[in-house]
Amino acid sequence: MSSPTSPASADATEIAAHYSTDTTQQPLLDRLLAALAGDGVDPQRPTIATLAPYDQFHGRGLDATRDMADQLAAHIRAGHHLLDIGCGIGGPARYFAQRFGCRVTGIDLTPEFCAVARALGELVQGTLAANGDVALPEVTFELGNALAMPFAGASFDGAYSMNVSMNIADKAAFYRDIHRVLRPGGWLMLSEIARGHADAAPPDFPTPWASTATGSFLATADETRDGLVQAGFEVVELRSTRAQALEFAALSRAAVARGELPPHRSVRLVHGDIGPLATTNSARALADGRIEPIEVFARRG
Ligand SMILES: C[S@@+](CC[C@H](N)C(=O)[O-])C[C@H]1O[C@@H](n2cnc3c(N)ncnc32)[C@H](O)[C@@H]1O
Repeated sequence: MSSPTSPASADATEIAAHYSTDTTQQPLLDRLLAALAGDGVDPQRPTIATLAPYDQFHGRGLDATRDMADQLAAHIRAGHHLLDIGCGIGGPARYFAQRFGCRVTGIDLTPEFCAVARALGELVQGTLAANGDVALPEVTFELGNALAMPFAGASFDGAYSMNVSMNIADKAAFYRDIHRVLRPGGWLMLSEIARGHADAAPPDFPTPWASTATGSFLATADETRDGLVQAGFEVVELRSTRAQALEFAALSRAAVARGELPPHRSVRLVHGDIGPLATTNSARALADGRIEPIEVFARRG
């Protein structure tokens, strides 16, 4: 189990290794730029839209980020400072910054992801400048552990986290540190893969979030709600997004059957050859109810 004060604890290392390029592959940034070129896009001039199949590394990709942003629109003002916990390679952070004109800080424990997130940020800013478009507000990416974040208390107006807590054993520490860094009254939106029910068997591995069972820590929806309340949050809404996930999976299969690329290609990009099996395993666990995607909107008390 992770220690909140020890970002280099054994399971943090295992989690980072799961997401990092192994020695048999080209570095992630090179593979991503090659994928853009394959899509007919100038890899040196990417946009938020052309990156979306790759840099939104969670179920339903940009659709899920857009849905979440729609729900948060009433709570976000230009100039707010948002925290993206487990930011990956930065797709959601850039989307929120552009859509709302707010500053976004991302934190992630995988060094390669932070480096790629920064590189993509620079490339996107270059594209905006070349097109005479408005630059993104400040979007920064910090290497660190969500259990012991290097931020002062009450630093953020709002925080979100997409498909991250499945890697976190100590959920109480996770919720506690988010509560600490939010300003009083600040909001939290979690988009997670929950355990389908208390007796649900685990998914088969690999999944997109864990190579083996030792890196996967799924909580049920009820456990998530209780944990947040214990940390001092008011849970305003908790909903299942299972129907949306099933619909997205069906649309993806139909695209592939037509000979098109699937709309969401980040799992394959990050995980290479095990990507298709990881996606199949999580689709099967979703279909039979062992896992359930949920969204939770909460307020810091
Ligand atoms: C499935 S990816 C999601 C990335 C990003 N949220 C997105 O949706 O594009 C999960 C991310 O969580 C990060 N992560 C897992 N445990 C973490 C922790 N304890 N602290 C910070 N980041 C963590 C991983 O490094 C990985 O980037």
